[in-house]
Amino acid sequence: MSLLLSPFDMAGTPLTNRVVMAPMTRARALDDIPDDHTVLYYRQRASAGLIISEGIPISREGCGYLFNPGLYSDEQALAWRRVTDEVHAKCGRIFAQLWHVGRMSHVSIQPGQAAPVSSVAVVAERSNAYAWVEPGKAGPVQASTPRALSIDEIQRISGDFVSAARRAMDAGFDGIELHGANGYLFEQFINGALNTRDDRYGGSIANRQRFLLDTLDALAATIGAEKVAVRISPFGRLFDMQPYGDEAETWISLAAALSARNLAYVHLSDQLTIGAEAIPQGFASQFRKAFRGTLMAAGGFNRTTAETALAEGELDLIAFGRPFIANPDLVERMRHDWPLAEGDRATFYGVNGAVTRGYTDYPAYQADASL
Ligand SMILES: Cc1cc2nc3c(=O)[nH]c(=O)nc-3n(C[C@H](O)[C@H](O)[C@H](O)COP(=O)(O)O)c2cc1C
Repeated sequence: MSLLLSPFDMAGTPLTNRVVMAPMTRARALDDIPDDHTVLYYRQRASAGLIISEGIPISREGCGYLFNPGLYSDEQALAWRRVTDEVHAKCGRIFAQLWHVGRMSHVSIQPGQAAPVSSVAVVAERSNAYAWVEPGKAGPVQASTPRALSIDEIQRISGDFVSAARRAMDAGFDGIELHGANGYLFEQFINGALNTRDDRYGGSIANRQRFLLDTLDALAATIGAEKVAVRISPFGRLFDMQPYGDEAETWISLAAALSARNLAYVHLSDQLTIGAEAIPQGFASQFRKAFRGTLMAAGGFNRTTAETALAEGELDLIAFGRPFIANPDLVERMRHDWPLAEGDRATFYGVNGAVTRGYTDYPAYQADASL
């Protein structure tokens, strides 16, 4: 019997299977508003047990890449409603991934061309935002040097997350996933090599975790803990995140803090497949011991490794990213053991105005009628 294809009760949200579509920025929304292509893209993939949306900026300040549909205006929320309605019509479930990139942005896309914001005023070396290379010409550009947030502003950003979460629920999402992973704003606070603040948001482990945990608490108080999830990337090295002394302790104590919060799930983003160093041996089981709730992971899974991780009780849900790009019917292909199509990396992100190519034009599998 396949565990992967068996139903799961996610804190009261029933999932028809344990195959989750991982959050993936596709950069196709030319006006930062979901459109007909966005609706079709998600509808095609609605047989996933759970879809996690692409990273959705919670504010203009939170944007680091052009063409990402946000959740900071009523117009955007209304447009997302069309997506969630279509997913629900196909008996799917969808969480919104709420995102603030922090320093991973560029002045050309910041309000008033201001510097992006972060824990400290330190640039992410050798790291690109996707912004205006020159007026009218979009492309990869070195992220700008950020400025450090004041305490008032940190609290204001927690409030921006709450506003976006309200909009997400009004737009029909089943819940939200806070993007705490992959070198973006929250990791810029958690990382002890980068965050050298000397106030209550820097220094000790508890101080570096405070922004994330306070924001999760504010979200849970507003929409209910069972509708709130978080994605983190322990030992992640994306966008110039450097190793630091008490790294394992930071993540294990965060696991315990998250366990106490009864969230919908915690999502581990494993960067091994994109070149990060291996997570230290024994870390996964230590994390599992400290975190008692629903645990999901993404990063290089295939059907076999996913079934093994579920059978061994390491994980409850498995998220697949790249396989969902070229296989809108990934669940059906797994059910019938049909072969998987390979996605074209050149069209993972929409560049040069190419919207549909490599986005909504991957067909469902056609079984050969002559066999
Ligand atoms: C095109 C693309 C866009 C992505 N965008 C996001 C994103 O918006 N938010 C996020 O947390 N991870 C993002 N990721 C990472 C994926 O969620 C996932 O963790 C990664 O692809 C590893 O899983 P896989 O090996 O199944 O593809 C993205 C990955 C890809 C390939």
